[in-house]
Amino acid sequence: MIRDFQEINLASRNSFHVEQRARRLIEFETEEELMALFRRERFARWMVLSGGNNVLFTQDYDGAILTPVSQRIDLCEAKDGAVRVRVGAGVEWDDLVAWAVERGLWGLENLSLIPGKVGAAPVQNIGAYGAEAKDVIREVRFYDVESDAMRTLKREECRFGYRESIFKQELKGRVVITEVEIELSHEASPRLGYGDVEREVERLGGATLRNIREAICSIRRSKLPDTAVLGNAGSFFKNPVVERAVAEKLLNDYPEMPHYPTAEAGKVKLAAGWLIDRAGLKGYREGRVGVHEKQALVLVNYGGADGAEVIALAHKVQQEVKKQFGIAIDTEVNIL
Ligand code: EPU
Repeated sequence: MIRDFQEINLASRNSFHVEQRARRLIEFETEEELMALFRRERFARWMVLSGGNNVLFTQDYDGAILTPVSQRIDLCEAKDGAVRVRVGAGVEWDDLVAWAVERGLWGLENLSLIPGKVGAAPVQNIGAYGAEAKDVIREVRFYDVESDAMRTLKREECRFGYRESIFKQELKGRVVITEVEIELSHEASPRLGYGDVEREVERLGGATLRNIREAICSIRRSKLPDTAVLGNAGSFFKNPVVERAVAEKLLNDYPEMPHYPTAEAGKVKLAAGWLIDRAGLKGYREGRVGVHEKQALVLVNYGGADGAEVIALAHKVQQEVKKQFGIAIDTEVNIL
């Protein structure tokens, strides 16, 4: 079913809760509806807004926003303990995780409680606690507006990387993701190596699927603000990847600095949250916006802020980190 809204306030449709407006917002359910819409309307300007959990609107949007609402979760194949599931873009990511855990299916548990919808997951290859969406995604299906056709890309074709994919690069602005096919497993494969996960799982009684989900949820709740209470978009910045020599120089001055290996030879990933924290900005507040007091990677809207205020704070954070550590940190959030 299509729902068409004119001159709509976006405050309840973006997790930062900024009060920008869009000329039009259209919710669609099926691929047929989506294709018919594009053929009929020939939008001059359009964008996709899914859960609105990774965007910051800094101005009103003078075009049509498309929002997928398909709630389908179809179990399509089960073989040798592996299960393939096709999921509509409009399904809430954490509802999918809960669905899988209830059925004893492994693969999504470390990605519990990540806010957002399934259709957005492949775009920035969402990740947490040692897992990424790309570990389970088999295929991504989308409408390609330029060729006016449905297309499917296999995992290897999606060019997934750390918070990266083809959908943020070559295909940016020309596709609408409608469905994601994932592969899960009945076989246990606990991943407990990241941070406090193992300790929390032990406290709950051992590495069962339910306990891992519970542990991740409780760690996230203790650090990350609830968007329903405090406007935010999760990590506002990406963790910077730097040359090994740069990391080594910093480690001389700050031996306790967290650093992680990367898939790229000679490169090291640093923790932007730690850098911001050490720059003295954790809990820093400027009017209606601030750096979250429990996780410095997250910028928050204390109420009524507009996008420009958040951007001004983000620039200040970037400048301070640059000044103190010589490191440039990029935004993870999509700024519009
Ligand atoms: N740290 C601090 N102070 C802070 C924040 C972090 O000292 O204010 C230190 C931590 O103690 C830790 C290190 O920095 O040693 C890394 O922190 P954490 O483990 O909390 O994770 P992160 O690197 O800050 C990333 C993701 C999160 C994801 C967590 C857990 C990015 C940009 N962020 O954060 O993703 O939940 O790991 O896996 O990669 C998101 O993308 O929106 C998001 C929340």
